Amino acid sequence: MGEIGKIVQAPEDLVAPVNVPPEAYTSPEYARAERDRLWRKVWLQAGRMEDIEQVGAYITFDILDDSVIVVRSSADEIRAFHNVCPHRGRKLVDTPPGQRNAHASRPNFICGYHGWTFDLEGTNTYIEHQDDWQGHLCGGLADLGKVRVESWGGWIWITLDPEAMPLAEYLHPAAGMLDPYGLEKMRPRWRKWVVFDCNWKVAMEAFCETYHVSTTHPEFMEFGQFRGWARNQGLHSNIGYDAAKGQEEDSGKLRLGAGEDPRLTTADMQNFTWQNANTNTTTTLVAVANRLKDELPEGTPPAEVSAYWISTARREDAERGVEWAQVDPQHTAKAGTAWQIFPNFQIGHAVNNMLCYQARPYKGDPDKCIFEAAVYELYPEGEAPRTEWEYTEPADWPPVLQQDFTNMAAVQQGMKNVGFRGAQPNPYMERSVASLHMNLAKFMGTGGPKTY
Ligand code: FES
Ligand SMILES: [Fe+2]
Repeated sequence: MGEIGKIVQAPEDLVAPVNVPPEAYTSPEYARAERDRLWRKVWLQAGRMEDIEQVGAYITFDILDDSVIVVRSSADEIRAFHNVCPHRGRKLVDTPPGQRNAHASRPNFICGYHGWTFDLEGTNTYIEHQDDWQGHLCGGLADLGKVRVESWGGWIWITLDPEAMPLAEYLHPAAGMLDPYGLEKMRPRWRKWVVFDCNWKVAMEAFCETYHVSTTHPEFMEFGQFRGWARNQGLHSNIGYDAAKGQEEDSGKLRLGAGEDPRLTTADMQNFTWQNANTNTTTTLVAVANRLKDELPEGTPPAEVSAYWISTARREDAERGVEWAQVDPQHTAKAGTAWQIFPNFQIGHAVNNMLCYQARPYKGDPDKCIFEAAVYELYPEGEAPRTEWEYTEPADWPPVLQQDFTNMAAVQQGMKNVGFRGAQPNPYMERSVASLHMNLAKFMGTGGPKTY
């Protein structure tokens, strides 16, 4: 993976409390160094495979100064290229104004400046007055530069580092733990993006812990307790809920409501979640939850309510051609509810839906980022909606996400305060924060968490 700095200031297991200095969030020098030390070294999630289904379909992916074209070059192959014309450096494919990225379909790429043309394999097929170069444009000098690209989980992954480790090695152990969920079969229900006034780490860290739930989302406290763990997993980390013995299903996302009558509170939680977050559930789960009071007798024990709710929804989905993944409860307990994929992607997985976040730096400004969220579910063959990335002002996001957003600019501002002594993440519930910074320090050579 290229050069990794030696600094590991925290013990790898991160069980002990650490202090994270504000440098990684606020320093312009740190943000500048990220381009070469981080973004040009790691594997990055660049889009979904379903975005480039037909031969010639392509997307672009931008990360600071770099831009990559990913194209389906044949029925069973995708390729990625640096999005720059080898003639005089024009960006080859422009992003239409206001859009997150370019996406379309074409038989070849023609540069808008002097017309150099490239086929779907990146090979130059046309140069006006080529003889003028006296035969020197050979050996690939006139072709597009190749970028390493692989797929996993239904996502396209790219790295700008020709020496980077293979994707499978990079994603370990996250990929193996998530494989049983069949994430590659899910399709987006909605996809939104926005530019925030905070560092990309502040945005990602708003979603990598359950410690904030009781204060930032007080409405959820009516539905149960949301104390959850976080574990360091090599480069990555994951989070999940603590669940009572015998109710390991509850450590996953499909959770029962708490209280006297779980038939009613599960319905309340499902309706609230659907209406106010539009994530982490599906219309089938909501519909079956709303029937629990009619289909189960009063006093049904929670474990039976949970089993009935999930198995009924699973069966009704199967009847319309939607097959949920089968994952045993012990695996669910270990896999938790979300994985933070280093450095800037989170997968909130379940057997029938997922919620994913990504944040990227915006123009190298440490105080800004591009934040995006996508919600996926399983659809019957051929019935998935065609969704586009929609630029969405904060006030137009689901209300629960708006609650998360209220902290972002305020955290960024607070971290610059001369009196701020560094972040002190909860060593049990917010270990993902410590994990991110421990791993960042390996790439950046600075800014790592310190033990007390
Ligand atoms: S810069 Fe692309 S053809 Fe000249
Ligand atoms: Fe939240």
